[in-house]
Amino acid sequence: MSEQKTVNAFKSLFTPLKLRHKTLRNRIVFGSHTANMAENGLPGERHRGYYEERARGGAAMIVVEPVPVHATAVLTRGNFRHGSDEIIPHFRKITDAVHDHGAVICHQLYHVGQHGDFDNSYAPSWSPSGLPSFHDSDGSHAMTEREIEEIIESYVQAARRAQESGFDGIELFAAYNALIDQFWLPFNNRRTDQWGGSFENRMRFSRTLMERIRRQVGDDFIIGLAVNMDPSTKVSQSIEQLQEIVGYHDKRQLMDYVTCGTGGYFNFGDIIPNVFSADKLGAPHAEALKHVVSFAKVQCESHIRTPENADYVISSGQADTVSIVRGQIADPHLANKAKEGRSEDVRPCLSCNQMCWGRRYRDYWISCLINPSAGREFEWGGDRFERAEKPKSVLVIGGGVAGLECARVAAERGHKVRLVEAGPKLGGQFRLAGNQPRRGQILDYIDWLERQLMQLQVQIDRNTYIEADEVAAFGADEVIVATGSNPDGNGFQRAMPEFDVLPGIENGNVTSAEEVMAKAARVGKTVLLLDETANWKGSGTALYLAQTGHKVILVTQAASVMFEMARTNADLPMRQNLRTLGVEMHTETMVQHWTGSGATLKSFGGEPFEIKADTLVIASTNKPEDSIARELGLDGIGDAVAARNAAMAIYEGRKRGMSI
Ligand SMILES: Cc1cc2nc3c(=O)[nH]c(=O)nc-3n(C[C@H](O)[C@H](O)[C@H](O)COP(=O)(O)O)c2cc1C
Ligand code: SF4
Repeated sequence: MSEQKTVNAFKSLFTPLKLRHKTLRNRIVFGSHTANMAENGLPGERHRGYYEERARGGAAMIVVEPVPVHATAVLTRGNFRHGSDEIIPHFRKITDAVHDHGAVICHQLYHVGQHGDFDNSYAPSWSPSGLPSFHDSDGSHAMTEREIEEIIESYVQAARRAQESGFDGIELFAAYNALIDQFWLPFNNRRTDQWGGSFENRMRFSRTLMERIRRQVGDDFIIGLAVNMDPSTKVSQSIEQLQEIVGYHDKRQLMDYVTCGTGGYFNFGDIIPNVFSADKLGAPHAEALKHVVSFAKVQCESHIRTPENADYVISSGQADTVSIVRGQIADPHLANKAKEGRSEDVRPCLSCNQMCWGRRYRDYWISCLINPSAGREFEWGGDRFERAEKPKSVLVIGGGVAGLECARVAAERGHKVRLVEAGPKLGGQFRLAGNQPRRGQILDYIDWLERQLMQLQVQIDRNTYIEADEVAAFGADEVIVATGSNPDGNGFQRAMPEFDVLPGIENGNVTSAEEVMAKAARVGKTVLLLDETANWKGSGTALYLAQTGHKVILVTQAASVMFEMARTNADLPMRQNLRTLGVEMHTETMVQHWTGSGATLKSFGGEPFEIKADTLVIASTNKPEDSIARELGLDGIGDAVAARNAAMAIYEGRKRGMSI
């Protein structure tokens, strides 16, 4: 597509929009998400760098992560301080920086009601009717009328602080079953006083606090409302009920925009869609809300991912704006690249959730698997590179993602880069992951890397295996060893650490997950898959084998299949898919002995039992391919140092590329 055509194609997306007293320069919003970056409850440089980079990258509006409104609302270690004016001067640095780049900035206010986290709040959770949490087994406290009043006032004061901090507005979190929507839903709200019962009474909490916030902040301040749709749950609201609720608030002109997410605390997986989810997940819900509003703008959320999807949502009239969260974590310059007709240069989010939600889940500040500058913008100068003072010639040995990222960054900085790869294709182990079912977005990312290298005129030599003693002949000023890793092949299991090698492995008919995904293995009808890693490597290979007609028996020492990926939300759909395909799953189980045509299995504390299988496929931690690095006395990057996941390889590739 020519540049002119692409720009025209995104005309709707880049049409400005008036939102209360502000004009958004386009329709792309960096929606609210807990980046979890506060230190001691205060926003700092990590925050500033993170949000400023997305404003510089062209987002029209940024909605900063939620401020808990009250002691009972604190949810994460990186939450902002609640109820304190001390945050104001710190926020001011962020709002100034974002305004300098022409973006509008709001922040979210939240209270998750019954689903609080005592480990961080050290306070009981408050809710309309004292129902238990869906995050853990804690119960909650049914608020008295005095306590309801206290919470409303805490919202008003939080909005005041936002205004004094230079924000253009606030967004009220009434999504996924938080406090506000707990008041809306008969399931959560079983009160018999003025705050419960009739529809009007259940709306009283949100209406009162929105009216009071408006009185506090005046006319020139945006008030947004974040809601959600979760059709998978009987107790959540239907789309008709949500339309009625949104229509009620719109009729009273209580909010300037409404943004609709997917999933909820009863169905966490759809909140942050993964590779098993459809694109544009929230579009039908946004469209339904468009039918009932006459005052508020409607924002579509959830798995919009690309400028093409975003433009479709806007041009087809499904919504007025789109929130693209992970798409802009992965590429903070998504908006500008799309505007310039360079959408093929947008680094494409993988929907992997590994370093964004996966890190938030573990209560760290968030980053990105393919964009390690996320969260480090303040130390690395954003997702941009400075030209090196002295251009050098650089030889990168190995075309896995560590080598590719290193080559890209070195070339961006003006070095003359040559990359040699032993095999015919680039991408290394990550390409094999991309061959697994549902994981084609990984191949899109490898294509993106290849395109960037071509544009940067990196010389790429495929099918070029070199030995350590040949390296000098390349005459490079800098040599980077990114030779990756290989399957260990010994079947070591953490559950049987006394055995370096799986007993009976010499009986044959054994292969690795890597060989299966490279389509380089002969695999029999019935497969025993030893899944030592409990992540995508084992399960994704099992899914591939089951889909291609094999009977699969999966054995893992972990408590559940995909245990390591629970923090990405992909574990549950993976298990459901495996179950549907008839995969036999044995958790907390080890392979005691392989015979070549079957095995002895034993669950922890159970009795050994025999199974029949034609092939044993091992998915376990690789061993580094570090011979060249050792012979040359070089440090190496990525798996060549220690076999880990792709995030570490890409991080080390980026860091090494920046250091040359
Ligand atoms: C790490 C992370 C934290 C999130 N935290 C919040 C939050 O605090 N409030 C909220 O309304 N949505 C939150 N979300 C959901 C996003 O706003 C968004 O709905 C979701 O990521 C799907 O959109 P996307 O496909 O554009 O990423 C979070 C998402 C991520 C990835
Ligand atoms: S970690 Fe994965 S899902 Fe999250 S933003 Fe990066 S690529 Fe997207």
